[in-house]
Amino acid sequence: MGRRGEWREAAPNAAGTAKRTGFPILFWEHDAHASIRAERTDPVEVPVATLIDGKIISAAVRAEVAASVARLKASGRRTPVLRVVLVGDDPASASYVRGKNRACHEVGMDGETLAFDAGLSEADLLALIARLNADPGVDGILVQLPLPAHIDEKKILRAISPAKDVDCFHPENVGHLVTGEAGFRPATPAGIMELLSRSGIPTRGARAVVLGRSNIVGKPMANLLVQKGVDATVTVCHSRTRDLPSVTREADILIAAIGVAHFVTADMVKPGATVIDVGINRLDDPSHERGYRLVGDVDFAAVEPIAGAITPVPGGVGPMTIAMLLKNTLYACTGSFD
Ligand code: GUN
Repeated sequence: MGRRGEWREAAPNAAGTAKRTGFPILFWEHDAHASIRAERTDPVEVPVATLIDGKIISAAVRAEVAASVARLKASGRRTPVLRVVLVGDDPASASYVRGKNRACHEVGMDGETLAFDAGLSEADLLALIARLNADPGVDGILVQLPLPAHIDEKKILRAISPAKDVDCFHPENVGHLVTGEAGFRPATPAGIMELLSRSGIPTRGARAVVLGRSNIVGKPMANLLVQKGVDATVTVCHSRTRDLPSVTREADILIAAIGVAHFVTADMVKPGATVIDVGINRLDDPSHERGYRLVGDVDFAAVEPIAGAITPVPGGVGPMTIAMLLKNTLYACTGSFD
């Protein structure tokens, strides 16, 4: 028997989810109309959130991609090639880009970064993209965002050939996403769909609330969730949403992509909800060597005892983004989206 506030964690299963049981400090009782929070004095074992482990699920996706790349090569085709363009010296972007290249090599792809200083002109960047578009030896092109202020991001993203647009940022590909036609899907929202489906989280008829309306996560996420076959009822919330907690408490699936550390608190979550945390925020913490630690948009410690399933930060959505980029690069190489 454990003590109150102590957790025992089952070994994660092959699907990357682990059911945890423990003795939470607070206990939630709910009936059809109300949730009553009360201090428990007796250590009764209650189920707590299933941890959705993005490291395990992304490893499964990467293994599938690696097997497809091996089959391609065995059939005499060349390896898929991704070119990542990095402009400027933002350390976070440099670190993301290193991760993308490393992941390419691990699945047998050719990934390389073309790095330029922040002074690169918009015209030179457009010329580079035109060269990569025309190069039959390049399958996927990714221009890491954000770009320096003197470069028009929209113009750059429109210049990338839709057939090589592994980010799915070109308006033509965004159109295919909205209409549900075959095509690239943006990596982070597509990764979240994989987390949901491989964790057995039902979406049909579920109420999904997306916190954040960015072009990279919030808007495409809402579009994926509302597609036929996924069949969620979707609400997108943003900075002008009135009485946000009353909206988020409706969610069977709550997706936080707002970019504010610990924004989602316990009172915003319906008991049993699936909570997906897209945020990666630095929180000052002198006890850490670096002086900060990475936390999500969700106050994990407060929300985990209420949620039915939850992603950690780090190790939740983050690893999925890279895995889905690899999938898109494979699609770009084969021209087939299944
Ligand atoms: N910057 C932050 N996320 C992304 C992403 O998914 N793609 C690109 N190109 N840049 C980013």
